Amino acid sequence: MKGSAQEAPTAPRPATGKLGIITPGLGAVATTFMAGVESVRRGHSKPIGSLTQMATIRLGKRTENRTPFIKDFVPLADLNDIVFGAWDPIPDDAYTAAKKAGVLEDRDLEPVADFLKAIKPMPAVFENHYVTRIHGTNVKKGKTKRDLAEQLRQDIRDFKAKNKCDRVVIVWCASTEIYIKAGPQHATLEQFERAMENNDEAIAPSMLYAYAAIMEGVPFCNGAPNLSADIPALIQLANDRGVPISGKDFKTGQTWMKTVIAPGLKARMLGLAGWYSTNILGNRDGEVLDDPASFKTKEESKLSVLHTILQPEKYPDLYKDFSHVVRINYYPPRGDNKEGWDNIDIVGWMGYPMQIKVNFLCRDSILAAPIVLDLALFMDFAQRAGMSGIQEWLSFYWKSPMTPEGLYAEHDLFIQLMKLKNTLRYTKGDELITHLGAEYYD
Ligand SMILES: NC(=O)c1ccc[n+]([C@@H]2O[C@H](COP(=O)([O-])OP(=O)(O)OC[C@H]3O[C@@H](n4cnc5c(N)ncnc54)[C@H](O)[C@@H]3O)[C@@H](O)[C@H]2O)c1
Repeated sequence: MKGSAQEAPTAPRPATGKLGIITPGLGAVATTFMAGVESVRRGHSKPIGSLTQMATIRLGKRTENRTPFIKDFVPLADLNDIVFGAWDPIPDDAYTAAKKAGVLEDRDLEPVADFLKAIKPMPAVFENHYVTRIHGTNVKKGKTKRDLAEQLRQDIRDFKAKNKCDRVVIVWCASTEIYIKAGPQHATLEQFERAMENNDEAIAPSMLYAYAAIMEGVPFCNGAPNLSADIPALIQLANDRGVPISGKDFKTGQTWMKTVIAPGLKARMLGLAGWYSTNILGNRDGEVLDDPASFKTKEESKLSVLHTILQPEKYPDLYKDFSHVVRINYYPPRGDNKEGWDNIDIVGWMGYPMQIKVNFLCRDSILAAPIVLDLALFMDFAQRAGMSGIQEWLSFYWKSPMTPEGLYAEHDLFIQLMKLKNTLRYTKGDELITHLGAEYYD
């Protein structure tokens, strides 16, 4: 991340004019996010779950009583200045898509129906090969993948001009693509561009969106576990062009809980024999994840968390060979209201076993929507503060945070939060908070 701890901060530019937020994907998450922002703007709801709207940040000593709201401390775009756009292979407008997603009740949707009906998805770059369970007609045509990427770039320029936006941010809220391993096609920009021209299978649609965004100087976040921007060619491109990128995979339900509980076990040096997680989920995301190829992408993302937090190689007596199983079962009656069960087999003093059971009845898109908002506003802020490349300070929001090669990701939610807030303090040239607290006893 350029403009981070090693470099002097650039005073963030103010958030003047309109901010366009374009989401590839206009499904459950994107429509719940858009409907929620409009509902807040009209004074019908509170932005619950959003740090940019509701959280404060402590400045200076605990005795100073200085805790402004984050949004008053750093210049973030105002909700009233946001304009929404989307791409989706399914041509439904945001109202129809939200009705089909079934997340929000009519009492919340109807008051913003006019607003949602006006959001119509642009034709998507989409291929069934990468998301097998979705069939759409609102799809771009092009001879090569490079042509398709150029069309996306044109869409971004047109959207910006039509909506008189000062700035644009893109947040991937589209389906999880099949598992792809980074290969030579992703190694350098030259190889990546050649692969686009050759219609190489290793170049998935999500990579074309990421490429288009970075080429247009637009910050790009990836809410799904697809590789997308997380390949050397695009990380380098983002660094070279001074564009912030961030990902991957919104940390919402079960994984969020894992990154709360696992640091607690480790903090007390309690052992782990196994962690079994299972979910039932009935929305379209659940249907897409029912395809083993898409599930593999998700599974990789979900499995990495515990190992990185618990560090079995450093604590073999506590965490060597713990069993970690994650299942997602598509079960239509539940819709977006996912139910997750975790069985955690822990080990205490003298090796005595204990168990923790978590039964989380969550609402996937209700948890994801404020994350989309925060990411969009923070990424726009990052760009105005001169930060570019991987934004690791936003790892708070991700299941699989992107990091530079060779650096392990920080998954502990509380360390991530400290990192986020210290980064905000840093951008304003404010004192970082170490929690040492020695000054209170001088
Ligand atoms: N809700 C959560 O808690 C959560 C958490 C982590 C990640 N995610 C991820 O967020 C994404 C969105 O979830 P959702 O519940 O809204 O799913 P959804 O199925 O309701 O919506 C996804 C939309 O993306 C569209 N799409 C697919 N490929 C596309 C492409 N190439 N270009 C543009 N649009 C495309 C689909 O047509 C669909 O409308 C999924 O990848 C999901 O795994 C969600």
